[in-house]
Amino acid sequence: MEPIVDKLGRPIRDLRISVTDRCNFRCTYCMPKEIFGDDYVFLPKNELLSFEELERFARLFASIGVKKLRLTGGEPLMRRGLPDLIEKLMKIEGIEDIGLTTNGVLLGQYAQPLYDAGLRRLNMSLDAMDPELFGKMNGRGIKPELILKNIDRAKEIGFTIKMNMVVQKGVNESEILPMAAYFKERGITLRFIEFMDVGNDNGWSFEKVVTKKEIYQMLRAEYEMEPAEEEYYGEVAKRYRYLDNGAEVGFITSVSESFCSTCTRARLSSDGKLYTCLFASNGFDLRELIRSSLSDEELLEAITGVWKGRADRYSDERTEQTVKNRKKINMSYIGG
Ligand code: GTP
Ligand code: 5AD
Ligand code: SF4
Ligand code: SF4
Repeated sequence: MEPIVDKLGRPIRDLRISVTDRCNFRCTYCMPKEIFGDDYVFLPKNELLSFEELERFARLFASIGVKKLRLTGGEPLMRRGLPDLIEKLMKIEGIEDIGLTTNGVLLGQYAQPLYDAGLRRLNMSLDAMDPELFGKMNGRGIKPELILKNIDRAKEIGFTIKMNMVVQKGVNESEILPMAAYFKERGITLRFIEFMDVGNDNGWSFEKVVTKKEIYQMLRAEYEMEPAEEEYYGEVAKRYRYLDNGAEVGFITSVSESFCSTCTRARLSSDGKLYTCLFASNGFDLRELIRSSLSDEELLEAITGVWKGRADRYSDERTEQTVKNRKKINMSYIGG
């Protein structure tokens, strides 16, 4: 089968599936409390794609070249019965890799059932080791100890874990070296993420970004590192290996070194809209189609049509103007 490519020649390889728009955190850069308050209206259950619908979509995407699935949210573990979904997705022909992106709060409870369902990869987040700062950044006063405990537990069970840390100037730069030291010691890859202008509510500006170069220099003052080879085509993170113990560290450089030219990712929101960029303004409503009893062929025609028409490269194009003037979907809705 000829690979399906978009207008810039990029094949479709990954599907990021958001399973809920809810989250038990209120990270200041993603779901600020002032906007996502007690009266915020989340999607009602009947508007979410069911597990059967998700399985069907995943199978259809796999048939046109998707090899990798990533489950996201909001916080994906807020979706009831997630291990059952994973079990279904694991059986799909052509899917070689499934990952889960989680804040880790509920892992104490779900790590074992997820592993039993076949999941092996977790990307977790932690923005600070300092309890007060982390509590403030997650908006819920959750302490790092809980996340660190759940990381240990998940590691014990057998998961491969990557950590994500969003770095914001003037907020958590002081945590870069303590975080690096902690995860290096444990052989867990920590990825520093440049703060991004996702959505329109997170108060982003170029001044608040700590770039890969700045972080790299801080690390280099302490450690010897060499570049590590790409794990897969179009890998999101640029990784380096510490020479002394072989642990790795990575950078996700959407702002300072965009990676749109190799972007092979489609995104499905929890209410069934297909997005072809994290910074998109609009999605294509697949839920309406799947609920109007279309055949697999008809659904596939719609999906391939969207991918073939794709020309997104937001990070390449980012300027003060796009940041201000473009309407963008919220991260908690599309899952990063
Ligand atoms: P693996 O490489 O498979 O481990 O997953 P990942 O790093 O793609 O997934 P994860 O959900 O951990 O994402 C890490 C960060 O990268 C998040 O902040 C995402 O928003 C960001 N990210 C992932 N894909 C893209 C992308 O296509 N564009 C941009 N700008 N950011 C992305
Ligand atoms: N900029 C960069 N990363 C972000 N994340 C959420 N919002 C942003 C943002 N504005 C991160 C989360 C999580 C991953 C899925 O995306 O912290 O690690
Ligand atoms: Fe924080 Fe992730 Fe929840 Fe957003 S979805 S508030 S980044 S934990
Ligand atoms: Fe892909 Fe859009 Fe991210 Fe560029 S900005 S890498 S096109 S999701």
